[in-house]
Formats: sequence, C-alpha cells, structure tokens
Amino acid sequence: MKVKAAITHEKGKLSIETVELAEPQAGEVRVRIVASGVCHTDSAGIEQLIPVALPAIFGHEGVGVVEDVGAGVAGLKKGDRVIMTFPSCGCCPHCLDGAPYACDDLNRLMFDGSYKDGTKRFSQNGTPVSSFFGQGAFAEYVVVDARNAVKVEIDDDEQLAYLCSLGCGVQTGAGAVLNRCNPKPGSTIAVFGCGGVGMSAIMAAKLAGCSQIFAVDVVPSRLEMARELGATHAVNGRECNAVEAIQKLSGGGVNFSIECSGLPMLAQQALGCLQREGLCVLVSVTGDAEVPIALEPMLMNKSATLAGLTEGGSNPQVFIPKLVKYFREGRLPVDKLVKFYKFDEIEQAFEDSHKGVTIKPILRF
Ligand SMILES: NC(=O)c1ccc[n+]([C@@H]2O[C@H](COP(=O)([O-])OP(=O)(O)OC[C@H]3O[C@@H](n4cnc5c(N)ncnc54)[C@H](O)[C@@H]3O)[C@@H](O)[C@H]2O)c1
Ligand SMILES: [Zn+2]
Ligand SMILES: [Zn+2]
Repeated sequence: MKVKAAITHEKGKLSIETVELAEPQAGEVRVRIVASGVCHTDSAGIEQLIPVALPAIFGHEGVGVVEDVGAGVAGLKKGDRVIMTFPSCGCCPHCLDGAPYACDDLNRLMFDGSYKDGTKRFSQNGTPVSSFFGQGAFAEYVVVDARNAVKVEIDDDEQLAYLCSLGCGVQTGAGAVLNRCNPKPGSTIAVFGCGGVGMSAIMAAKLAGCSQIFAVDVVPSRLEMARELGATHAVNGRECNAVEAIQKLSGGGVNFSIECSGLPMLAQQALGCLQREGLCVLVSVTGDAEVPIALEPMLMNKSATLAGLTEGGSNPQVFIPKLVKYFREGRLPVDKLVKFYKFDEIEQAFEDSHKGVTIKPILRF
C-alpha cells in the first residue's frame, strides 16, 4: 500500500513523501499510526551519529490501531489499540528469561533498519527503506513484529495519543526506578536531568513512595514541573553544588540516583550523592564517552553500585500495561509533558525538542 512518511535520504534532512509498505509477514502486524513521539534518539539517527542505513524512516514511539495481522500472531487482532516499543528477537537467552531489553540482537534490530529476517518493509521506487527500531513510526502506517506492539486498554485515540513515550522515554525513566532500583517506601532518590526521561523517573519515585525525591536541572521551569510531578526538592545545578546540596538535605546521601541528562559530568555527580550501599543507574546516552568518571572513593569504600540500563529494564508486554494502568489512575500524569504537532510540523517539533521548549513533542496523524 502507498503511505505518506517522513523519509531521510541524506544526513540531517527529512521530507514527507509517498513510500510503499509491504504486507505484514508471519508474526507481524500492520498498524495505522495515531500519533508518534519525537525522541532525541531519532535526531541521533537522522544526524547519523547512529549510522542507520539511508534512506530511512525514523520514529520509534508510535501508537495506533492494528489493521491487519500476519500468520501466526497470537494476542493481537484487527481494531486493537497498541503502543509500539523497542524490538527484540524472542529467542536468545535474555529474551527467554524475560529481559528483552538485554536481547543479544538488540542493536541490530533497533539500528540497522531491517527486520528479524534481514529484509525491510518500506520501499520507494524499488529501493528498500530502513525502519528505525523496527517501526519507522514517522509514517501513516507501519508493519511491526507483534513482539514490539503492546495491546493496551485505552478507550479512544485521543487518550492513546498522549501515551507515545510509554514505548521509550517513559518506560526508560519509570523503569529505571520501578524495575532496577525497586525502592522500598521511604527510600531517597536523586534524578539528574528533568527531560521526558527524568520526569518519568520522578513520577515513578513518587508512585513507589520515596520520601525524598531530588530533581536536578538547570532550567527553572523544568524544576517547577518536577515539583508538580512529585519532586520534594528542586536543585538548580547552575546555582549550587548539587552533590553538596543533596548530601546536606538528605543527611548523608541518597539510596538511589538516576542519570538522565546525557552529560558525563552529571554521571559523576549522580555517583557522588549516594550514601553507603547506594545504587546509581545511568540511562542516558552520554554525548562524550571520552570523559572519564572517577570511581574511587565513590564505589568500593561506600559498597555502592554503578549500573547501566537500556529501556528501563523493561519487559514491555508486562510493564507497559502496568504504566497504562497507573496513567488511567492519575498516578503517572505523562500528559503534562506533551505538546501536539501536526505531522507536517515535524521539523518544528524537532526544533522545539532541541531548544527545550517542549519536553515531549508528539505528532498527530
Ligand atoms: N537508556 C535508554 O534506553 C534511553 C531511552 C530514551 C532516552 N534515553 C536518553 O536519555 C537522555 C535523556 O532524554 P530526555 O528525552 O529526557 O532528554 P532532555 O534533553 O529532554 O533532558 C535532559 C535534561 O537535562 C538537563 N540538563 C542539561 N544540562 C544540565 C546540567 N548541567 N545540570 C543539570 N541538568 C542539566 C536539561 O535542562 C534537560 O531538562 C538522553 O541522553 C536520551 O538519549 C535513553
Ligand atoms: Zn533476544
Ligand atoms: Zn526514544
């Protein structure tokens, strides 16, 4: 079928053009896109910092309605509302153990542009076109593996449109707290960087009953929003030494810290604000891997742990429905982060995301 999509032919560029979408193969579904989130990882692909084969269709936070189902798909049927998420193979030891975020084939399936069998579903004038994250959700329709389409109980498309980033950014921040830290009620936590990922970590920390939640950022409006979402303390890293402030206000450091800014300097701070036996989780993609983090005396003497985590340590078919339930109960108000754009305003959406004007831009189709 013919589909309109934002296609990238050369580094740094997007244009809305018509492409051809193949029928879903065995184990796959075709989804009509209702809305699609804009994430920094899309920019990294468009700018070729992640070398996805071009031409490519980016977008990996799609939500929509199942329109057609390939052979052998269990649990999804025409008309189901789905949130799409990261792909995984389903048959490596990590996938079989319920940890698809650590799938052995994760990098290829997310970034190489093709599906499990190595072929692509989009094409233009006979040339195969890559789908980012096995989605390519900057398009009116996509074909995805049924493993990365999660059926959700949502009444209408209007509500569904707010939930795009449950497939990536929210899952990443909330999952770091709920799946990896798993804080006991009364625990203390610091979140570095209050973008979509950090705000989700803050909401999850509140949900988990943390007694002190420190939000660290440099933008006053973001800190204000962080407080609204559950932070008990807002720390402006430009106005004070965040580590000293957190150490003092928490009476000797926090149990958990999450680094969500992508700045190596903040990873160092996140590690520095822990108390003994603390856990620091790095979820962001650091801009400069050459900047070293000093580990001593932060780790050994404190019996502390430094951990990395992709996609919030989530098993999406289990975790995303839980996040939807929290949203419906008003305990995960992700709608507060969202601003909608029309599909043809995609470049404006990226610009507002870069400038920090919008925390979570979402394209409506
Ligand atoms: N691990 C994963 O699976 C995964 C998934 C999605 C996104 N990410 C990554 O998570 C990171 C965050 O994503 P996002 O969408 O929330 O980004 P974002 O740009 O919206 O948020 C970053 C925040 O850090 C703040 N910041 C900048 N400089 C600061 C400083 N010196 N001190 C304190 N705060 C500062 C910014 O003001 C901003 O609010 C990115 O690196 C992204 O690539 C990772
Ligand atoms: Zn796997
Ligand atoms: Zn993302």
